[in-house]
Amino acid sequence: MARSQPAPRWAVLLSLVILIGCIVVPSWAVKHGDFKTCEQSGFCKRNRAYADDASAQGSWNSPYELDPATVHFKDGLFTGVLIKTTTADEKVRLPLTVSFLESGAARLLVDEEKRLKGDIEMRHGSKANKKRYDEAEQWVLVGGLEVSKSATLNAQSETGFTNVLYGPGDKFQAVIRHAPFGIDFQRDGQTHVQLNERGLLNMEHWRPKVDGKEGESGEDESTWWEETFGGNTDSKPRGPESVALDVTFPGYSHVFGIPEHADSLSLKETRGGDGNHENPYRLFNSDVFEYELESPMTLYGAIPFMQAHRKNSTVGVFWLNAAETWIDIVKSTTTPNPLSLGTSSKTNTQTHWISESGRLDLFVFLGPSPKEISKTYGELTGYTQLPQQFAIGYHQCRWNYVTDEDVKEVNAKFDKYQIPYDVIWLDLEYTDDRKYFTWDPLTFPDPKGMQEKLDETERKLVVLIDPHIKKADNYYVSDELRSKNLAVLNKDGDIYDGWCWPGSSNWVDCFNPAARVWWTALHKYDKFKGSLSNLFIWNDMNEPSVFNGPDMSMPRDNLHYGNWEHRDIHNVNGMTLLNATYDAMLQRKKGEIRRPFILTRSFYAGSQRVAAMWTGDNQATWDHLAASVPMVLTNGIAGFPFAGADVGGFFHNPDKDLLTRWYQAGIWYPFFRAHAHIDTRRREPYLISEPHRSYIAQAIRLRYQLLPAWYTAFHEASVNGTPIVRPQYYAFPDDEQGFAIDDQLYLAATGLLVKPVLTENTETADVYISDDEKYYDYFDFTVYQGAGKRHTVPAPENKVPVLIQGGHIIPRKDRPRRSAGLMRWDPYTLVITLDKNREAEGSLYVDDGETFDYERGAYIHRHFHYRESVLSSEDVGTKGPKTAEYLKTMAGVTVERVVIVDPPAEWKNRETVTVIEDGAKAGSTASLEFYEQQLGQASYAVVKKPDVGIGKTWRIEF
Ligand code: NOJ
Repeated sequence: MARSQPAPRWAVLLSLVILIGCIVVPSWAVKHGDFKTCEQSGFCKRNRAYADDASAQGSWNSPYELDPATVHFKDGLFTGVLIKTTTADEKVRLPLTVSFLESGAARLLVDEEKRLKGDIEMRHGSKANKKRYDEAEQWVLVGGLEVSKSATLNAQSETGFTNVLYGPGDKFQAVIRHAPFGIDFQRDGQTHVQLNERGLLNMEHWRPKVDGKEGESGEDESTWWEETFGGNTDSKPRGPESVALDVTFPGYSHVFGIPEHADSLSLKETRGGDGNHENPYRLFNSDVFEYELESPMTLYGAIPFMQAHRKNSTVGVFWLNAAETWIDIVKSTTTPNPLSLGTSSKTNTQTHWISESGRLDLFVFLGPSPKEISKTYGELTGYTQLPQQFAIGYHQCRWNYVTDEDVKEVNAKFDKYQIPYDVIWLDLEYTDDRKYFTWDPLTFPDPKGMQEKLDETERKLVVLIDPHIKKADNYYVSDELRSKNLAVLNKDGDIYDGWCWPGSSNWVDCFNPAARVWWTALHKYDKFKGSLSNLFIWNDMNEPSVFNGPDMSMPRDNLHYGNWEHRDIHNVNGMTLLNATYDAMLQRKKGEIRRPFILTRSFYAGSQRVAAMWTGDNQATWDHLAASVPMVLTNGIAGFPFAGADVGGFFHNPDKDLLTRWYQAGIWYPFFRAHAHIDTRRREPYLISEPHRSYIAQAIRLRYQLLPAWYTAFHEASVNGTPIVRPQYYAFPDDEQGFAIDDQLYLAATGLLVKPVLTENTETADVYISDDEKYYDYFDFTVYQGAGKRHTVPAPENKVPVLIQGGHIIPRKDRPRRSAGLMRWDPYTLVITLDKNREAEGSLYVDDGETFDYERGAYIHRHFHYRESVLSSEDVGTKGPKTAEYLKTMAGVTVERVVIVDPPAEWKNRETVTVIEDGAKAGSTASLEFYEQQLGQASYAVVKKPDVGIGKTWRIEF
């Protein structure tokens, strides 16, 4: 036997390094074992197997047919009974409705007759509701349900089909196939969305468990009944009850939306293969500790709304179901017949939606543009709330500011270093022993004094209030929750007990109207003692996060108000808390009505009406910084644009390069907040050494300079549902090269195109430009032009690459202040870039930034345009009872400067412009200065002190 050679020195060293690495490098990876894969989730596994069976059998026939005797169409409603024929030749009746809505959307709704009638037996003596959950819409939908009066039957339907013409100008048609059941949705004669085209419709009907006879049904029952995961057994008293459907987008190769996942904007395929995912995208609101990137794993929130996009056409679907949902995506390319000329290959995106329980409730949108989809979807689920002005400033958070003195010191330091901020946050530890609605008497003895100090500079405080209530004696919140029976119950009907931050806890059940009333009362100033009117709320852990629960949440057989099982309502659960908190904020004091501000971690479709969201516990790594951009963009196209990520990264310590770049990116998140884990080092911007401190301060000031543009963008979102920051495809829906781009963004319709630096040691950015307009560097007006290609823009560490597309007028405020509130009366600067026709336009929305008076006309909404050498401001607002009074308060607020980028060369010789304000007796003049620049950088001209009123109609003639 050969003697073993001693290992060479390098190998010993290497092993040592690896060994040390194993000991000291913390593991930063998500615990996969804590969260189900599709294979571990019975209903997902069954439906995937169903899909495999269907595609394996060449001539698969979906066993769902409309009973011809039941089919009926009247007043925009198509009704009928779907018959499912089971393997045992049993006929299951499933009542179906397709509603054609005035908005142009269509809704397919399918329920189960037996369960509607309550004609089923529950196992384990369960008291759970027998119906399929039919209340999700009460939480989610707020409008857009008016049924179309003009929808008509198309006389040319073939036998066995019902064709309905609907939508604007009857351009849409639903071709309803009776057997097997399916619907093709067409626009202008072309099919854009197909339901049950692959035959994967599956409504698992109720059936009894026949003990001792498992398998006799001829089906694999191994996942039908009790299911165990993570040490918890789900009793599943109604057995299998999933609902699934395939939705195909023929000719579409990109699909977007269905947050929340840490993944690319353009969603990936999910059935394996190179670069694809192995698991479907999962929607099951969960507290995923140290989540991983490029993953279809579920995260904290869920919006089952998807947009499919191809050149010049966008369509969408919204799957209204509150239970756990998985979505498989595959793309198939059809190759054309080589003999037929003029045809090209096309990609179809096939999706498969699978939910654990509930009804089949699907909305179909036919666009044709992304903006139209945003509008119609927003009519249903509501638009983003118009936040208070302070809420779009900078938020400073960490877990935790440790005393009220600490808060005051941080506040003072921001001023000392001249860094603006609006809100300071208190995480968990401000409470007395993690009892919400209390203050730690030792560390926060004077909460009022602290809030009053903040108020001196119009700053606010946000405190954390979670839905788990510490189970403790002598804590009135706990006593009341329990004695009034307002908590979530376990499957046996007893108060559910779980583990969270405070230890043993109970959860408020906001499905219960009485619980919401109670929750509202807790926030009143006399109950939440020490809170003042500049205090707002952060609802965290509302998935709900339960440390000892399955999938880090509640057992699915827990019971909520109405005896709904937790499985039925899981994904809307977090939103019910937000609604209650929203009401609470409105009712803190009689007569004091200001717009609430709430931050939420868990969300569902509709949460945009009441809260902002953030992407949860990210990490201080370059990859997480990069991932935040598509995540925020995705939220925007899914109708919840008030979104952001923890600036700096929650876990671990960013170095100053990463932190600087994160601030430069973070100023473009609609919700802009720095946050950090309790174990991290302090990293308030003023603590960072120079020159990075100045770089960060400059970035934050840029956010404040553009607050007028941001607020206008929020206003647009609040009336049209448009994203506040938009991806390339949304801004240029006909440029195929841009569809998958998700590392640059546009600030609403301002023409600002931003490409934040998201990688280490990078000093340039390659900005993709779609059209042939000129684009000007925001800071020095360097010109970039050339459609369909990338342009290299310098990005030294003190600069975030921002371009302005030609053709825009951007409102700004250029005077640095300590907070947004202090900028209220500051004058405006307008920056103009001209397009190819030497024209430009833009808009500005302003109100008091605080109350709801804007609903009664207390606002200014101006449209600016520049045409034929005249800049004018026109009113686009509607008047209301409060308009005149508001305009009076704003009478002294003017435009102090107009900057025109790339003006005509002949302006060099001009010294003045004529200013004509409506109502003024005569025009006046203002000075014009021309600044010539070196080659490659556009010249610019500045009108100084035109001093026209921001709320007035005026013209400036050049
Ligand atoms: C979890 C949240 O995601 C995090 O932001 C917060 O700091 C901790 N909970 C503590 O409250």
